[in-house]
Amino acid sequence: MSKIIKVLELGSGNSRRGANQNRGRALVAGGAGFLGSHLCERLLLDGYDVVALDNFHTGKRFNLKAVLHNPRFTCIEHDIVDALPSNLRVDEIYNLACPASPPHYQADPIHTFKTSVLGSLNLLELARKHNAKIFQASTSEVYGDPLVHPQPESYFGNVNTHGPRSCYDEGKRSAETLFFDYSRTYGLDVRVARIFNTYGRRMQPDDGRVVSNFIVQALRGDDLTVYGSGLQTRSFCYADDLIEGFVRLMNAPSAPAHPVNLGNPGEFTIMELATLVVDYTNSRSKIVHRPLPVDDPKQRRPDISFARNNLGWEPKINLAQGLAHTVEYFDTLLYGNRMAKGAAAS
Ligand SMILES: NC(=O)c1ccc[n+]([C@@H]2O[C@H](COP(=O)([O-])OP(=O)(O)OC[C@H]3O[C@@H](n4cnc5c(N)ncnc54)[C@H](O)[C@@H]3O)[C@@H](O)[C@H]2O)c1
Repeated sequence: MSKIIKVLELGSGNSRRGANQNRGRALVAGGAGFLGSHLCERLLLDGYDVVALDNFHTGKRFNLKAVLHNPRFTCIEHDIVDALPSNLRVDEIYNLACPASPPHYQADPIHTFKTSVLGSLNLLELARKHNAKIFQASTSEVYGDPLVHPQPESYFGNVNTHGPRSCYDEGKRSAETLFFDYSRTYGLDVRVARIFNTYGRRMQPDDGRVVSNFIVQALRGDDLTVYGSGLQTRSFCYADDLIEGFVRLMNAPSAPAHPVNLGNPGEFTIMELATLVVDYTNSRSKIVHRPLPVDDPKQRRPDISFARNNLGWEPKINLAQGLAHTVEYFDTLLYGNRMAKGAAAS
């Protein structure tokens, strides 16, 4: 049963009005999440009516504070695994619905898998019904523990099919299959982004991702937990850069015939990240090591040549700038901007 949190006339009239007034209606599944809420704001700014669909598993109403009173925005509490509301009319669909951090997606692995597969099927059918363009938030996890480095889109990956991460990795891989089969079978316009680690404002303090874990631990003065040696690498993209990539991929004149990597090609070891966070937070926290989780990838770095050459996209915000914004966000969320107050007082 879905619950409309704020009402927009979902079914009536022509959803695509004159180009100057309105660019049509975009549905954002997972719109109350970290990335989804930033995307909703961007689409409203770009002139779309926006409908967010979210089961609030990891999403928060708080994330929608800036848009909830916008007359062109509505939010429906709904699980995309279930049949979608029959009166939804849409011109474009973005599917971001899926828990993204290991503790959340492993809490109910079967539902995570259903979200990627049955949820995608429901949204693809909706796209088909309205001849709507549809975007899928896929992931660098489809490369698993990669044997090719950096990872180009042509790499098929090295994924465990039955480990504790498989519900997410294999769910996303299956969703990619469905998207391209809908394109081949029905001529649907599909856009699939493979997203690499992204961080920024609106991450949850308890969401178990490395950037938020480190910043929250450092601000609390707790030890920073590094899993394994910390020599494994990751690439970190700031959310604003990624959202720009989403919009460019969706608005590209023709749909790429394959998924497109979106991420920041800067590569850092986890130890380097931990050290930077300790510096930026002026923390006295120490770094402690814990055993590496099963199937944790040893290295990750996107090859973004396709996005650079075809979308004119590359990240603009480096790790130092992005961390500064994110530390400020968490410090404000948890301590009412204690760091700025401390600096002003000293
Ligand atoms: N942030 C990253 O680093 C990253 C990296 C790769 C891929 N992605 C993908 O991007 C998307 C957004 O990620 P995020 O970081 O914003 O995560 P998030 O957990 O903050 O957002 C996911 C949103 O989807 C909602 N949701 C989950 N299952 C749902 C369901 N069955 N029905 C309806 N809503 C559901 C959640 O409540 C939440 O609002 C996800 O699909 C994720 O897999 C993110």
